[in-house]
Amino acid sequence: MTTNLSVNINKIATLRNARGENAPDVQQVAIDCERMGAQGITVHPRPDERHIRRDDVFKLRPLVKTELNIEGYPSPEFMDLVLKVKPKQVTLVPDAPDALTSSAGWNVTANAEFLAQIVEKLHDAGIRSSIFVDPDAVQIKAAAAVGADRVELYTKPYADTYPTDPAGAVAPYVAASQAAHKAGLGVNAGHDLSLVNLKYFHDSVPYLNEVSIGHALICDALYLGLEETIRRYKECLK
Ligand code: PXP
Repeated sequence: MTTNLSVNINKIATLRNARGENAPDVQQVAIDCERMGAQGITVHPRPDERHIRRDDVFKLRPLVKTELNIEGYPSPEFMDLVLKVKPKQVTLVPDAPDALTSSAGWNVTANAEFLAQIVEKLHDAGIRSSIFVDPDAVQIKAAAAVGADRVELYTKPYADTYPTDPAGAVAPYVAASQAAHKAGLGVNAGHDLSLVNLKYFHDSVPYLNEVSIGHALICDALYLGLEETIRRYKECLK
């Protein structure tokens, strides 16, 4: 099966916001990422709009021809945004409003009622729902029970352990992906995936529908250029 590369363009917006004008142009970068081979574009509009802003999301919607994936905590403001924009996929993350970056998956069992309501609203709007989780079979089964279509596995623990113990690092993700597949869920993954650790992850973890990658990919692009970088990430997914 194919694993799609969704490029997270938050960092492009961070760079743009540093000068208050429109360089780099977030919309043009999204178009170019797709032209260069990205199979999806991910954005994470945070309440403080420190990178992607609400109006970026509206502008990106008609431009993205692959899959637009919007990540975020399902606050009333976030739900209002995604139900208006209607992207292909929404990834629900449990972040506090001031979180630097996502740092853990949902406790789905403890938030089952809340998440079930959110997922239902997304389904009614024709939006695929994905719940960000740690590689934990209990949480994955709970994600299936609240009606989600997919889970996104939080991969920072994998990335941290990979350099010293690749097999040990990936083992929980292999089991998690099998559990998700058995529960009827699709499988996405993201956080700290890079040219160093992506190929091994992809080659080890079955049923991987999509990886969403931002920080390392944009860092690599500074040296390699965006086109060569996207080519190399996709090479890891073959
Ligand atoms: N998935 C989720 C839910 C995230 O919050 C992020 C960071 O915005 C990513 C994936 C991408 O992580 P990274 O920037 O480390 O590639």
